[in-house]
Order: sequence, then structure tokens, then C-alpha cells
Amino acid sequence: MMGHSLLCKMGFFLLTTVIYGYAEASNRSIVTLYPNWSEIYRGETITVRCEIHGGDTEWDYEWETNSTIKPPNQNEYKIISSSSNNNGNYRCKGRMKSSQNKTEWSDSVTLTVSNNKPRPVLTVSPSWLSPGASVTLNCQVEHPSAGWSFYWYKAVPDLIEKSYSYELLPDGRRTVDNSYIIHGQTHTAGYVCRAGRGDAEYHTDHSQPKFVWSADVHSAASLTVSPDRVQHFISDSVSLTCEGNFTEWRVVTVPQGDPSYYYKCERMNGSTCNFKTSKSGTAVYWCESGSGEFSSAVNITVQNYFNFYKLYGPILVSPVHPVTEGASVSLSCSLKTQKILSNVFFYHNDKLIQNDTRGELNISAVSKSDEGFYKCQYSGRESAQSWMSVKVITVTVSGADSSSSPVWLMVGLVCGVSLIIILLLLLYRCRQSKYSCFTRLVKYFLLLF
Ligand SMILES: *[C@@H]1O[C@H](CO)[C@@H](O)[C@H](O)[C@H]1NC(C)=O
Ligand SMILES: *[C@@H]1O[C@H](CO)[C@@H](O)[C@H](O)[C@H]1NC(C)=O
Ligand SMILES: *[C@@H]1O[C@H](CO)[C@@H](O)[C@H](O)[C@H]1NC(C)=O
Ligand SMILES: *[C@@H]1O[C@H](CO)[C@@H](O)[C@H](O)[C@H]1NC(C)=O
Ligand SMILES: *[C@@H]1O[C@H](CO)[C@@H](O)[C@H](O)[C@H]1NC(C)=O
Ligand SMILES: *[C@@H]1O[C@H](CO)[C@@H](O)[C@H](O)[C@H]1NC(C)=O
Ligand SMILES: *[C@@H]1O[C@H](CO)[C@@H](O)[C@H](O)[C@H]1NC(C)=O
Ligand SMILES: *[C@@H]1O[C@H](CO)[C@@H](O)[C@H](O)[C@H]1NC(C)=O
Ligand SMILES: *[C@@H]1O[C@H](CO)[C@@H](O)[C@H](O)[C@H]1NC(C)=O
Repeated sequence: MMGHSLLCKMGFFLLTTVIYGYAEASNRSIVTLYPNWSEIYRGETITVRCEIHGGDTEWDYEWETNSTIKPPNQNEYKIISSSSNNNGNYRCKGRMKSSQNKTEWSDSVTLTVSNNKPRPVLTVSPSWLSPGASVTLNCQVEHPSAGWSFYWYKAVPDLIEKSYSYELLPDGRRTVDNSYIIHGQTHTAGYVCRAGRGDAEYHTDHSQPKFVWSADVHSAASLTVSPDRVQHFISDSVSLTCEGNFTEWRVVTVPQGDPSYYYKCERMNGSTCNFKTSKSGTAVYWCESGSGEFSSAVNITVQNYFNFYKLYGPILVSPVHPVTEGASVSLSCSLKTQKILSNVFFYHNDKLIQNDTRGELNISAVSKSDEGFYKCQYSGRESAQSWMSVKVITVTVSGADSSSSPVWLMVGLVCGVSLIIILLLLLYRCRQSKYSCFTRLVKYFLLLF
């Protein structure tokens, strides 16, 4: 009994809430945007809707807005190709067709139409490739939550247009996730993204290309630096030469760090770009061929000021390209006027590793642990620091591949099992005919092998 009356009371309570709530909401109007993006871009399509909750009464609609273009007296206003004339606050109310009863004005909703086509920002991480590691691309639009999907492209050098064309990556079409992972990339490459949203899809601009660099010199295309070292003196003449079987090249550069001064290679003399350094800074350089090839990339650093009195520090003389594991390498310290031959301090990752009368840091067999930042110091003046990259050679034993392949494993397994069965059969027969068993076994074995 108790249970029943409690249920009844609860039911009644629910019913009254529903009816009462329904009744109360029946004369409220709400403006909604569909899709619900309050900020859109010129040209996008959006619907401004007046919703009146309650009943299936027929309503007439009335709008109030300070936008230049007014919505018609209908419940829905579809803006096909938006412009700044649609900017404004919108509110609506309804009037019953049967009686003259009206709703209150709804709360107003702001629609902002931006004139600037958005350009997403792509980030690539890490910047330098290492064997086996994957590369993650990330594409950011200003309104990240607002229904964007993403497109991912490879940047293909276009020497004539002095820019890049775009080639969709495999599965690079319309990902909901704003990141994209690339596996097994071994060469320098450029990437681009853009975003889109809506049914009649609106597209953002393409992002600026971003690059992942390979330090690994490969045969198809490479970049050589002369003088052959990472650091250069101010007002040095440096030449960068693109090598490989291509006729047309350009040298591309991206500044690093701060100050972000760098020399941009505007014109090539054949496959060489010559320039005179004039300011301190670090940049990454690489070559791109007319047929879309990217070379390995190098860091180039121009001597920095040693102190406020604009005295220059020495430069560290270190290899531009990765040093192969096991090879010997010699780092030294140099002034514009002379190579320093004595009393140089050498630092590896900011740790003093050599403090004596020698002027060189010789490593007879380089290992991976020698990789890192190096700098030198001479009579209180310090050089900039530069990265020395160590290339590990992975030795593949010939034949190792085939012996470990599943096919060979299967063959081995089948052979082994057959052999055991044959042996068992032989043993069985031996037990049956006790004669000359041993000799027969030996015979079978000789036949088998
Ligand atoms: C809307 O409903 C409320 C109560 O439900 C009522 O007080 C009010 O007068 C109504 N307004 C109009 C315009 O009908
Ligand atoms: C738009 O709608 C989605 C889901 O329907 C919601 O998660 C989001 O918060 C809404 N955005 C705004 C600005 O109302
Ligand atoms: C509309 O009115 C709001 C609030 O008064 C104001 O902030 C906005 O700039 C106005 N928009 C236009 C297009 O006049
Ligand atoms: C119209 O409003 C009046 C008073 O506000 C109310 O008595 C009447 O029931 C309403 N008519 C309808 C159809 O809602
Ligand atoms: C260039 O310098 C960065 C650190 O600033 C380093 O990670 C990268 O490996 C260097 N590249 C080469 C080719 O040494
Ligand atoms: C360079 O490329 C041309 C045409 O692609 C080819 O005929 C020639 O053999 C190549 N030379 C070398 C050294 O690879
Ligand atoms: C281009 O290089 C050639 C030979 O390397 C040289 O003779 C010529 O003067 C250079 N041209 C320019 C404009 O620097
Ligand atoms: C280098 O070695 C000398 C002599 O051993 C010592 O006096 C000096 O403090 C050392 N310098 C640094 C930076 O450790
Ligand atoms: C370092 O190695 C170079 C050759 O690579 C050699 O000429 C030089 O004498 C060595 N310096 C020292 C201090 O061992």
C-alpha cells in the first residue's frame, strides 16, 4: 500500500512538473545558430533560427537586429554567403496566428562575420629526424572547437613560382583530429595543412609550409658548405653548393633562435649560393631541386658578440655534417686572425671537458654519447655553441634477413617435424625386426643427407 501511494505521488509530481514546465516554457522564444558558431568567416553559411518551445500552435515571427541586412519574418534565416552586413545582435519574438498573444523578446545572440580568411598554423615535431622516430604534425585554427576538419599535404618545391605546390598525404583527407603522424620519414620534407567545415565546405587558407630536417647526407641531393664548418666569422664569405644530378636548385633557409637574423639566398650562381655574413645568428639551410628533391639540412651559425663592447668571440670549428660513429673528429677554436693553438677550454653540453694547454679537442672514436652542444673559450672569450651530430651505423648481417623470415621458419619447422616422425617410424620398425637394425638406420641417414 505504502509503495503504491508513494509511486502515485511521485508520478503525480512528475506529471505536474512536466505540464507546468511545458506551460511556462510555452511562450518563450530562443535564437539559435545552426551550426552553433558565433564567429564565422565571410562566405560561410549559417542559419539563424527562432525557436518557440511549446504546443503546435502556429506563430508569426518578428526579428530585431542591428545588422545591415534584416531577416525576413520567418522562423529561419539562412545566410548562404555571409558578409560583414550580417554582423549584429539578433533577437526574435512570436505571435500566435490564432490569438494575438505574443512571446517576450528572446535573449539576443551575437553573430560575428570575420573578413579575414583564417590561416591555420602548422607545427612539426621534432624538427630534426632521428632514425625510427615518427613525426607529428599539428594544425591550429583560431577557433579550435568550432567544427573544423583537417587536410594534410606534402609541400612540393615549385622553383618557377618560387613557392610550393601541395600534394595530399595518404589518408590526409578530412581528419577530425588536428594532428597527423608520419612514420618512417628519412629525408628532409615540407608539410602544409588546412582546415574546412560546414556542409557546403568552407576552406581556410593553406598553412605556411613547415619542415622536418634530415641531417643525414644522402646521394640524391646534398648541401656542402665552404668553409666546411658550422660557425663562421662576421663578414666571412660563405658558399653553399647543392650537389646531385639536377639542373635547377634553390637554397632555402629558416632562422633559428634569437636573434633570428639569417642570410636568405636570393640568387643562385649555378648550383652555388655565395653570401657574405653580416650579422650574428643561426639558421638551417638546405637545397631543393626543380624536380622536388630535398637535400639534407645543415645548421649555420654566425659568430656572436662576446660582450656589450662588440668584441667578437672566437668560433668553434666543428663538422657541419653528422660524424659517423667510430670515426675520429677534431674540434678547434679560431679567431678571425689565427687558429688558436693553445690554452683552449672546451665544453660539451655546458660542461668543461678539456682545460689544458692543447688547442684541439680530439676524439679518436666518436660514440653516440659525444653528440651534443660544444663551445670553446679562449682567454675569457667564449664562442657560440654548436651541435655535433653522431650517426650510428646499423649493421645488417647478410642473410640474417632471410633466415629470420617467417617462410624459412615454417620450412624449418616442417622439416624438423618430418625428420622426427621418420626417426620414430624407423625405431618402430627396428623393434619389429631386430635384425641389422643399426645398419639400416645408418643407411637411411645416409640417404636422408
Ligand atoms: C507568458 O507566460 C507567463 C506565465 O506562464 C505569463 O505570466 C505571461 O503573461 C505570458 N506572457 C505572454 C506574452 O503571454
Ligand atoms: C555547440 O554545440 C556543441 C555540441 O552540440 C557544444 O559542445 C558546444 O559547446 C556548442 N558551442 C557553443 C558555442 O554553443
Ligand atoms: C549591435 O549592438 C551591439 C550592442 O549594442 C554592439 O556591440 C554592436 O557593435 C552592434 N553591431 C552593429 C553591426 O551595429
Ligand atoms: C492569451 O493571453 C491571455 C492573457 O495573457 C490568456 O488568458 C490566454 O489564454 C492566451 N491565449 C492563448 C491561446 O494562449
Ligand atoms: C642543428 O641544431 C639542432 C639544435 O639546435 C640539432 O638538434 C640538430 O641536430 C642540428 N643539425 C645538424 C645537422 O647538426
Ligand atoms: C643524370 O640524369 C640524367 C637524366 O636524368 C641521366 O641521363 C644521367 O645518366 C644522370 N647522371 C648521373 C651521373 O647520374
Ligand atoms: C658564378 O660562378 C662562376 C664560376 O664559379 C664565376 O666565374 C662567376 O663570376 C660567378 N658569377 C657571379 C654572378 O657571381
Ligand atoms: C683550468 O685549469 C686551471 C689549472 O688547472 C685552473 O686554474 C682553472 O681554474 C681551470 N679553469 C676552469 C674553468 O675550470
Ligand atoms: C688532433 O688530431 C689531429 C689530426 O686529426 C692532429 O694533427 C693533432 O696533432 C691532434 N691534436 C692533439 C692535441 O692530439
